Amino acid sequence: MAFDHGGQIYTLAAQQGLSADEALTECVDFSASIAPWFFAEAPHFNPLALLHYPDSTHQSLINTIQNRFQIDRDCITVSNGISSAILNLFAYLRPKNTVLYTPIFGEYERVALSYGSKIQRIERLSQTQESAFSANSIEKLAQIPIAKNSLVVWVNPSTPDGRYVSLQELKPLFDLWQQQDCWVLLDESFLPFISFDPKISGRSLLDTWPKLIVLQSLTKYYACPGLRVGAVFAHPDFLTQWPQAHWPVSAIDQALLLQRMQDHSLESQNHILQTQLKTDLIRALQESPLVKTIYPGQVNFILVKTRIKAQVIQQALAKTGILVRDCQNFGLGDYSLRLAVKDEASHNRLLASWSQLEDLTQEPITDVAI
Ligand SMILES: Cc1ncc(COP(=O)(O)O)c(C=O)c1O
Repeated sequence: MAFDHGGQIYTLAAQQGLSADEALTECVDFSASIAPWFFAEAPHFNPLALLHYPDSTHQSLINTIQNRFQIDRDCITVSNGISSAILNLFAYLRPKNTVLYTPIFGEYERVALSYGSKIQRIERLSQTQESAFSANSIEKLAQIPIAKNSLVVWVNPSTPDGRYVSLQELKPLFDLWQQQDCWVLLDESFLPFISFDPKISGRSLLDTWPKLIVLQSLTKYYACPGLRVGAVFAHPDFLTQWPQAHWPVSAIDQALLLQRMQDHSLESQNHILQTQLKTDLIRALQESPLVKTIYPGQVNFILVKTRIKAQVIQQALAKTGILVRDCQNFGLGDYSLRLAVKDEASHNRLLASWSQLEDLTQEPITDVAI
C-alpha cells in the first residue's frame, strides 16, 4: 500500500506490530512538514468546559489570530482544519472548472474530482531533464488560458518544493485570474515559516479582491496536527454567506491551540534554529551517494532528487520506523522525496538509517507494506 498523504504514523506502527502509543515514541515522521518545536508546557484544559457547547463565536481564538496575523477580525473564520475547509469551499462554490498549478497538495485534486469539477493542471514546475526540476516563469504561466469562472488554487510557499513567490511576481497571474472572474484559493499554510508580515501575504489584498480566499493551516507552524483547526481569511461579504457548522472547532481544540499561539517562548529562536537545522540536514544528505540534488526551498522541508527509486528508500526507512514522503503522487516521477526539517535527534536517527541504505541498488521493489 502506498501512503497518499504524509503523517501516517499509526498506519506505519500497525504494520510494524506497534501500538498507537508506541507509534508516538518509536516512529519518526519526516513525511508531514510540522515544525519540530515541542511545547514543554503540558496542555491544560478545564474539563467543565466539556459540559457545554464550545464558544461558537470563537472569541478568544479569533482575537489571537487577529493579533498574530494582523488582519481585521471580520475577515477571519476558523474551520476544523484546512483540509475540511477545502472540502466545504468546494461544496459551496461547486466550480465547473478547477485550475490547479502543479505539483500541488493532493487534497485539491481529490476534492475537485469528488464534486465533479473538470480539472485543468498547469505545471508550475517541470522536469527539463532527468536530473533537474525547473520553475516555469510566472509570465509563461499567465499566458496559459483558463476558463472563465474557474476555481483556481495556488499554494504559496508551494509544496513539495517550498518556493515562495512574492505578490509582485504573482501579479500577471492575479490579473489573469481576475480578468477571468475566478474564485482564488491561495493556500499559505507554510507562510509563517517565512514571516507573519501581512505585506508578503494575500491577506493584504482581501479588501479589494472579494473572490480571493486565503487558507492558513495553523497545525504546521504551531506543531499540532493532532488538533484540527485552521483559519480562513476572506472578504467579510463572502464569510457571511459561506455556511459553516455551528461549532466547527471543539472546545479542546480551541483551548489547546490558544495555549500554543500564546506561548512565544520558542518563536524568537524559530527561524534561526530552522535555518541551522536545515543547513545541517542538507550538508549531511549531500554526501550520500543516493542523493542527486537537493532543492532547499524557503520553508521547513526539502525536496530531494534521488539516484534510486524514492519508493525503495521510503520502504527501507519505514522498516526502521521512519516515514518520508515519496513525491510520486505529486506527479514528480519516481525519483524524488520530501523531507521535513526536524530536531537534531530525529535528524541523527534518519542519517543513521540512511547510511545503512547506501548499498541499495535499483532492485525490483519487493512487496512490503508501504
Ligand atoms: C499545502 C497544504 N495545505 C493544507 C494542508 C492541510 O492542513 P491542516 O488540515 O492540518 O490544516 C496541508 C496538509 O498537509 C498542506 O500541505
